[in-house]
Amino acid sequence: MRALPARLRFLRKFLLVCVAICLFLLAVRVQQDAPQSLQLRLRGEPVSAEQLQDSPTFQWPSPQQAERKAGDSVPVSATGPAPTRHPLQVVYPYGYRFLLNEPDKCRAGAPFLVLLVMTTPQDIAARNIIRQTWGNESAVPGVSLLRLFLSGVHPRYGSPLQWLLEEESALHRDIIQQDFLDTYNNLTLKTLMGMEWVSRHCPSASYVMKVDNDVFLNVEYLIRELLQPQLPPKKDYMTGYVYRDTGPLRSRAYKWYVPRAVYPNDTYPPYCGGPGYVLSGDLAKKVYRVAQTLRVINMEDAFVGICLYELGVRVTDSPWGLFNIGRLEYEQCRFSRLVLVHHYRPRDLLRVWPDFQGGNKTCPS
Ligand SMILES: *[C@@H]1O[C@H](CO)[C@@H](O)[C@H](O)[C@H]1NC(C)=O
Ligand SMILES: *[C@@H]1O[C@H](CO)[C@@H](O)[C@H](O)[C@H]1NC(C)=O
Ligand SMILES: *[C@@H]1O[C@H](CO)[C@@H](O)[C@H](O)[C@H]1NC(C)=O
Ligand SMILES: *[C@@H]1O[C@H](CO)[C@@H](O)[C@H](O)[C@H]1NC(C)=O
Repeated sequence: MRALPARLRFLRKFLLVCVAICLFLLAVRVQQDAPQSLQLRLRGEPVSAEQLQDSPTFQWPSPQQAERKAGDSVPVSATGPAPTRHPLQVVYPYGYRFLLNEPDKCRAGAPFLVLLVMTTPQDIAARNIIRQTWGNESAVPGVSLLRLFLSGVHPRYGSPLQWLLEEESALHRDIIQQDFLDTYNNLTLKTLMGMEWVSRHCPSASYVMKVDNDVFLNVEYLIRELLQPQLPPKKDYMTGYVYRDTGPLRSRAYKWYVPRAVYPNDTYPPYCGGPGYVLSGDLAKKVYRVAQTLRVINMEDAFVGICLYELGVRVTDSPWGLFNIGRLEYEQCRFSRLVLVHHYRPRDLLRVWPDFQGGNKTCPS
């Protein structure tokens, strides 16, 4: 008789917590609909000048940040003084703190490939799906893979989402996070956080791949065809979908707007498209090092190209068709002979993965 009320009390508490979480998630959804600029940016649609100038509202409090506020206006570039910073100017180097870190992941041994997966704090479902699909660390027999999800702090709901993120991190131990605002124009900070993590905590990784969370990735083909674990790791190597002879978009109407104040040149050096590119471990460390001396721009992929240019390293072309920046319809034989297809959201992945994984079709060679 005494056990029952206790159990009921527990049940009531449990239900209350569930309702609270549901309400919170609902609020996040509603709010995602509310600030149009955020939503447009998420959908990749043009944003007006006013929207772009919107400054994020949430400031994650950090003693270090408060301390450094005064020094904020010192020139952030090595190429010239920037007396007033453009809102899209990426604040770097700055000493962002790790709010979540996994410093011991490489202790057991150097991984062959580190997957640095870009996510935002609220991408809980996407992370779970990636863990079960191409992010599965034990999917390629005999090859050590290491998967990490990278995140910043949500501009509005940093604090409540932090609680969820910490739970998830405690469960899976595969999330790293620094205390910068997680916005599209801060993506470069996320990439550099990954390069910093590799430099500090995993310096003997053979290869590093930066990958977005809306792609189809064939890790086995990448390893078998391109990286070839039976050979010594390549040096100064970077490959992906290579862009040449492109330059910054100067119209504020674009998500990819880069003002002259941020990057004055009219052209970018060759670079690999952001949805997914691979670097040798040595090059990842060099990119991190040289980034400390450059003016960081808001396009992360073009910025890594600028780092390579400064290092005097050329990108390597990948065999045609391996990295697909446009969407392709799923087809088992085709997808078993490519590395990456962009625009595969997590739910698309779930749709194609069982067939892809169970694939025993004999494909024409
Ligand atoms: C990862 O792959 C291994 C080997 O194929 C499999 O046994 C395991 O269930 C997979 N893990 C997840 C989370 O899907
Ligand atoms: C990038 O993050 C920094 C640090 O949190 C923040 O001050 C800045 O406003 C963010 N920039 C953009 C464009 O969101
Ligand atoms: C930008 O232009 C300057 C002046 O022409 C040149 O010296 C520099 O190498 C260029 N930088 C890049 C990354 O192309
Ligand atoms: C694999 O092959 C077996 C036997 O040929 C067949 O019955 C099965 O449907 C195939 N599975 C897939 C996913 O193609």
